[in-house]
Amino acid sequence: MAKISKSAAKARIEALSQELKRHNYNYYVLNAPVITDFEFDLKMQELQALEALYPELILPDSPTQAVGSDSGSTYSAIFKQTGSALPDEKSMIHVPEARGAKFEQIAHKYPMLSLGNTYSEEDMLAFCTKIEAENGPDTEYSCELKFDGVAICLTYVDGRLKQAVTRGDGVKGDNVIDNVLTIKSIPRTLSGSGWPQEFEIRGEIFMPFAAFEALNREKEEIGEQPFANPRNAASGSLKLQSSAQVAGRGLDCVLYHMLGENLPFKTHTEAIAAAASWGLPTSDLSRIRQGGGQVLEFIKEWDTKRKSLPYATDGVVIKVNDLQLQKRLGFTAKSPRWATAYKFKPERALTPLLSIDYQIGRTGALTPVANLEPVPLSGTVVKRASLHNKDQMDLLDIRIGDWVYVEKGGEIIPKITGVELKKRPADARKPDFPTLCPDCGTPLVRDEDEAKHYCPNYSGCPTQIKASFVHFCSRDAMDILAGDATVDQLFGKGYIHVLSDLYHLGREQLLSLEGWKEKSCENFLASVDRSRSVPFDRVLYALGIRHIGKTTAKTLAKAFQNIDSLAAAGEAALAEIEDIGPIVAASVAEWFSREANRTLIEELRAAGLQMAGSAQQRSSDLLEGKSIVVSGVFSISREELKALIEANGGTSPGSVSSKTSYLLAGDKPGEAKVKKAGQLGIEIIDEDTFYKMIGR
Ligand code: IVH
Repeated sequence: MAKISKSAAKARIEALSQELKRHNYNYYVLNAPVITDFEFDLKMQELQALEALYPELILPDSPTQAVGSDSGSTYSAIFKQTGSALPDEKSMIHVPEARGAKFEQIAHKYPMLSLGNTYSEEDMLAFCTKIEAENGPDTEYSCELKFDGVAICLTYVDGRLKQAVTRGDGVKGDNVIDNVLTIKSIPRTLSGSGWPQEFEIRGEIFMPFAAFEALNREKEEIGEQPFANPRNAASGSLKLQSSAQVAGRGLDCVLYHMLGENLPFKTHTEAIAAAASWGLPTSDLSRIRQGGGQVLEFIKEWDTKRKSLPYATDGVVIKVNDLQLQKRLGFTAKSPRWATAYKFKPERALTPLLSIDYQIGRTGALTPVANLEPVPLSGTVVKRASLHNKDQMDLLDIRIGDWVYVEKGGEIIPKITGVELKKRPADARKPDFPTLCPDCGTPLVRDEDEAKHYCPNYSGCPTQIKASFVHFCSRDAMDILAGDATVDQLFGKGYIHVLSDLYHLGREQLLSLEGWKEKSCENFLASVDRSRSVPFDRVLYALGIRHIGKTTAKTLAKAFQNIDSLAAAGEAALAEIEDIGPIVAASVAEWFSREANRTLIEELRAAGLQMAGSAQQRSSDLLEGKSIVVSGVFSISREELKALIEANGGTSPGSVSSKTSYLLAGDKPGEAKVKKAGQLGIEIIDEDTFYKMIGR
């Protein structure tokens, strides 16, 4: 590090400490980081270097001396001490899932520390060399993937899961047991034999890419801010108050560290193999390596191979395998001396920003999208990147013509993470954020507690109208055979203005559309007709009320049973419902307060749509006691098939076992499932046979 005077170092140490605490808060509590992990680590390294130069300047609560806490209370204490304000309730509304939930605080039996980390191969080799100098060149290391999720500590007593605690501040954390119990890969009771009477096992709860993309798609659809990456999504989901909601989030878990009194293992690998034999989820990608050279080979191998994993990893963890040696090496205040992490540098590209488009979505939300000079990044060519909202653009201080950094963190579209100021051209121009809707010219509005700008012309803005038709017709909503192109055609001809118009379309009109023949007409009209029996909760979802996703629609349908009670319930009554927060309550109340929407409901009712009925109603007991695994592509969504199974008294687990009654296979079913069903002699049925079984 370059020379720096003591007084300059003091000022910089104070500034960095404060800044890092804020970033810890954004990351661990709000689940909404504003800088990348890499940028955070660089700041942390700078602070560490300054503290090494002037140890007398280390602040008692320096972020280098403690693990980042996921408990909000840690930060209120810190920010109070320094006289700076914590983000208040209002600014936190941008991240609705970061607020609220209260959990029982539990002290960790063994402190829950973090790991030292580095981005440098030399540091990694130095870590190994130091250990080998004392313990010989044949020291074994367990090389493992570093899973990018939320740390969790599970306690099993007499083979039963007793508590599940987050890292918290490392000393005490939140007991999120109810939410953890919804994660399918975590067993409530252990199988096999030989487990200690009581032990802890720590690991990571993560959200696979597929679940993350589905969640963000739904969030965007209902007008909510999507999560920045799968880690934030996992963390936000784990801290939700409603376990039912957590269950739908597709979380998964991998366990990598066992602790307890007098555990009967000599090595870490033995302990993890035993855990796997008791049915606990562990990784089968860990390998034993000897010496720094072999460790580096493992790192290089996975820096490439990790890109094809279905979940996010951000590095490799190296652990001394021998438990005696681990004990001898011990811990520093913050991390073990027997393990460290090598972090992969995020892949990013630098490219010029050509222009910014402002797009209006179904709920009227305006999203700025950057058009970039096409640039290759992690196997694809990136041309567009999301800029999220005006705050994000201001934070980046972005200008048209700037060279910008683009990253892909498992997100659907890449994001801009920074601007290279050194390359800013003299004629770079500050973008004009629109004040009017780019489609209908209505002045945009921004609610005090929202990050996005909106076009309030809900019933007159063509983009919003068309998007609301596409949503209404989508599979999970009314399942009417009309996508973007058909809606465009119908709208273009002036045949549809309000949703209920779909129920009055005639053959003549349809045949006048370009490319439409008798058959397409028939299919379309049949799908319109079928939609009259779509259950009430899906009708509610189809209406496209802001913040009402599939799960919330089910909750509302169950609580109110019919549209009239729901429409009559005011904001306060809505907020009383379990799992309904103030944002959803306000949105529903506002939607029903609009005259046009009340008329729409009457028209849809007259068209014969289901305006009553609880989502959970059982239609028969025909599948009572039957367990049916669903795999492949069907004429309706797998979710709908599962709902049908449950509505008829059956269950639909995710995997085939000896308890499975049937494998319901569509097109391209999972090979492993078909093979297992064959081995276990389980009958494979097709969609038609299934419908016959339930009398449809
Ligand atoms: S071992 C005593 N193994 O990364 C520390 N941690 O940045 C034991 N992580 O705190 C942790 N994958 O939350 C370990 N294979 C792995 C891991 C892993 C991810 C997390 C963990 C840790 C953090 C450090």
